[in-house]
Amino acid sequence: MLVTRVSRSSIPRQTTLQFSKAVTSFSQSHTASNSPCLHFAGLPCSQNFSSTSKVGLREYFPESKHHGNVFKTKSSWPHPHYDEVALTKKIAFAHRKPRDLSDRIALSMVRLLRWGTDLATRYKHDVDFPKKVGDANAVTETKPYSMSEQKWLARFIFLESVAGVPGMVAGMLRHLHSIRRLERDNGWIETLIEEAYNERMHLLTFLKMAEPGWFMKIMILGAQGVFFNSMFLSYLISPRTCHRFVGYLEEEAVLTYTLAIQDLEAGKLPKWSDPKFRIPDLAVDYWNIPEGQRTMQDLLLYIRADEAKHREVNHTLGNLNQKKDPNPFVLTYKADVPHPGKGIEYIKPSGWERDEVI
Ligand SMILES: [Fe+2]
Ligand SMILES: [Fe+2]
Repeated sequence: MLVTRVSRSSIPRQTTLQFSKAVTSFSQSHTASNSPCLHFAGLPCSQNFSSTSKVGLREYFPESKHHGNVFKTKSSWPHPHYDEVALTKKIAFAHRKPRDLSDRIALSMVRLLRWGTDLATRYKHDVDFPKKVGDANAVTETKPYSMSEQKWLARFIFLESVAGVPGMVAGMLRHLHSIRRLERDNGWIETLIEEAYNERMHLLTFLKMAEPGWFMKIMILGAQGVFFNSMFLSYLISPRTCHRFVGYLEEEAVLTYTLAIQDLEAGKLPKWSDPKFRIPDLAVDYWNIPEGQRTMQDLLLYIRADEAKHREVNHTLGNLNQKKDPNPFVLTYKADVPHPGKGIEYIKPSGWERDEVI
């Protein structure tokens, strides 16, 4: 193995001086290579990412070596079917304009988080003032700065490690509220926990392609510590603002995956366009991706659709009465008219208004 890994257990034992030296050393090498610290295919960060078959993919958690006892666990929440055409026709970047102070606070917090994510993943643009959620023409006027497969993966991994937090916090708090107050939850918990599960599947998929370096692992650790506690306290104070916040966060996620897909279509990510490139079996199983539709572009389309679904769900939940209203995504509807559901057939980018679903 060409990569020298820092074992998890050794990090706490490092002295402050050693840590300081390591940071200085990282900073110098990082500036020189301008590459996020991810280990790909057993190669050091400075080398090219190889994406050819098994040899080219270094899994962060390879399959079990216990021959004869290998087993697969069934997905706790089987993924709904996504129509191939709908993945491209019905999913696009969109923005819900803030309508009150709560919305504006939520959008400001997402912009702060976006700044932190750009810093952590060294995401740059060719323009001085890149477009963000809420800006006009956010997709067409934002040009990612020479993003490579490595840099996109670093961004995806950091983004997904954060994205898996809010659903779990919200679901946990609503669960605790229900058993503490001896009240029904109105069907919100399952959708929220399912969202967290789905985000974790995104993360596991990308971890099948690359192993984060120790710097990224520390960033993820710190981000989760701050984000979990912030979400916990914020959700106790204003769950509605938190759902709006997640809605805006998902708008950013849709924007990120849209830009990555554009790079792929423009031929800027040749390792992922290589016909020999295989997406992880884990992804094929989870999304039930049909044969002939298992390219990296297809995978990103599936993940982007998931993010668009989270955007719809959270903007909708942010429109509802948090204590009384049922979760419209688990209701059974009588007529065959557009309505909230698990799939993307009737997806609504800015969420369903309360009077449309209650
Ligand atoms: Fe995600
Ligand atoms: Fe998401």
